[in-house]
Amino acid sequence: MFFFEATITVLILIIVPVITIEKNINLKAFNTFGVDASARYLCRLRQPLELLELFETEEIRELAGNRVNILVLGEGSNLLFTEDYPGLIIKNEIRGIRVLEEDEKSILVEAGAGERWNDLVGYTVGRGWGGMENLGGIPGTVGAAPVQNIGAYGVEVSSLIERVTAWHIDSKKWLTLSNADCRFGYRDSIFKNELKNKAIIVSAVFRLTKGTVAMSLSYAALTAELKRRNVSHPDIREVFEVVQDVRRTRLPDPATMGNAGSFFKNPVIDSGHKSRLEKEYPDLSFNPHGTGYKIAAGWLIEKAGWKGYRSGDAGCYENQALILVNYGSATGKDILELSERIQASVLEKFGISLEREVNLIP
Ligand code: FAD
Ligand code: EPU
Repeated sequence: MFFFEATITVLILIIVPVITIEKNINLKAFNTFGVDASARYLCRLRQPLELLELFETEEIRELAGNRVNILVLGEGSNLLFTEDYPGLIIKNEIRGIRVLEEDEKSILVEAGAGERWNDLVGYTVGRGWGGMENLGGIPGTVGAAPVQNIGAYGVEVSSLIERVTAWHIDSKKWLTLSNADCRFGYRDSIFKNELKNKAIIVSAVFRLTKGTVAMSLSYAALTAELKRRNVSHPDIREVFEVVQDVRRTRLPDPATMGNAGSFFKNPVIDSGHKSRLEKEYPDLSFNPHGTGYKIAAGWLIEKAGWKGYRSGDAGCYENQALILVNYGSATGKDILELSERIQASVLEKFGISLEREVNLIP
C-alpha cells in the first residue's frame, strides 16, 4: 500500500463553525485567467475537521448520492474553466504555519493547504531557513504545490516535501503520504493521477536547511541576473529577491492580464528526434532530462509563429510564447480552442505533442 491512514486523534468535541454552501457563485475572481464562469455550489474550508462535518451534511450527502463532482480550489492559478461548473467547489482556506521539529542542520515546517505559497516562502526565507528561495513568486496555495510538483529556476518542491496530509473523499479517511508515496515527477504527482479529484490536501510538511545552505544557482536567467548585480555569493534572501524580480520581468501579472503561467509542459523527446530537429534548427532550445531531452515548448510555439498572436481576447503572450492570455473577455472555450490550434501546428511542424499543464475544468 502506497499510503497509510494517518493516526489523527480527532477531537470531536472541538466546536467547528457550521459550514455554509453558497449557490450559483461567479468564479471570475476565483481564477487567474479571469474567465467568467459560475459554480453551482461553493463552500469555504477553513479547518481540516470541517471536512467531517461537510461530508455528513444532508445537502452534501444528497450531492454525493447524485454523483455531483467535487473540485478543490486554491487560487485558481493553474486551471481553466471551459464552462460553468455543475458540481461543488471546495475553496481551500486552511491556514497556519508551525515548526514541528528542528536540529542544528534542518527544520521541519508544516503549513496549512490554504496558506499562500509565496507567504510561506517569505516566512521561511525571512528566518534564514533554506530550500524555498528559488520557488519565490509562484502564485497559488500550499495545497496545490504538491499536486503538480511546482518548480522554477532549477528547483522542484518535491525536493523539500517530507509528507502530505489529505482527506480521501470516497473512504472518508485521513491519508498521510510520504514523499515517495506522492510519486513526484516533472509537473506530476499521484494527485494528478490515482488520487485526482479524490484527495483533499489539508497540509504539507517541508524539510528545510539551517546554517550553511547549498543553493541552486545554475539556471541561466538567475545566474545572469546575479552577475548583472555583481553578486557572487548571494544569501537566500538575495536569491529570493532576484528570483521574484526576474519573474516580474518575464511573466504577465494576472492582476493586469489573465493567465495561468505555462499553458503546456516542456515536452521530452528521445535523442534521435532531438538530433533530427537540431539539423534543421541549430538554435533548438533544450536540456538533458533523464535519458531524453526536454525541449522548450515556448521555443517550439514561437517557431511555429504563434508568439504575440491574438484572436479576439484570447492570445499567445508576446514576451513568452508558452503563456496563453486573456485580454479581457475571452471565454474558457476561446482559450481552449486557441491552445488546440497551437498543439496541432506544433505537432505538424515538429512531430511533438504538447501536453497541457493547466487543468481543464470540468
Ligand atoms: P488551483 O489552480 O486552484 O488548482 C490547481 C489544481 O490543483 C486543480 O486541479 C485543483 O483541483 C488542485 N488542487 C488545488 N488545491 C488542492 C488541494 N488542497 N487538494 C487537492 N487538490 C488541490 N507553476 C509552477 O510550477 N512554476 C512556476 O514557475 C509557475 N509560475 C506561474 C506564474 C503565473 C503568473 C501563474 C498565473 C501561474 C504559475 N504557475 C507556476 C502555476 C501555478 O501557480 C501553480 O500550479 C500553483 O501551484 C497553483 O496553485 P493554486 O492554489 O492556484 O491551484
Ligand atoms: N523560449 C523561446 N521563446 C519563448 C519562450 C521561451 O524561445 O517565447 C525559450 C528560450 O530559449 C528560453 C527557454 O525557452 O531560454 C526557456 O524559457 P523560460 O526560462 O522562460 O522557461 P520555460 O521553460 O518557458 C519553465 C517553467 C516555468 C518556470 C520557468 C523558470 C514549465 C512548463 N514552465 O518555463 O513554470 O517558471 O521554467 O524555471 O516547465 C509554470 O509552470 O506555470 C511556469 C511558469
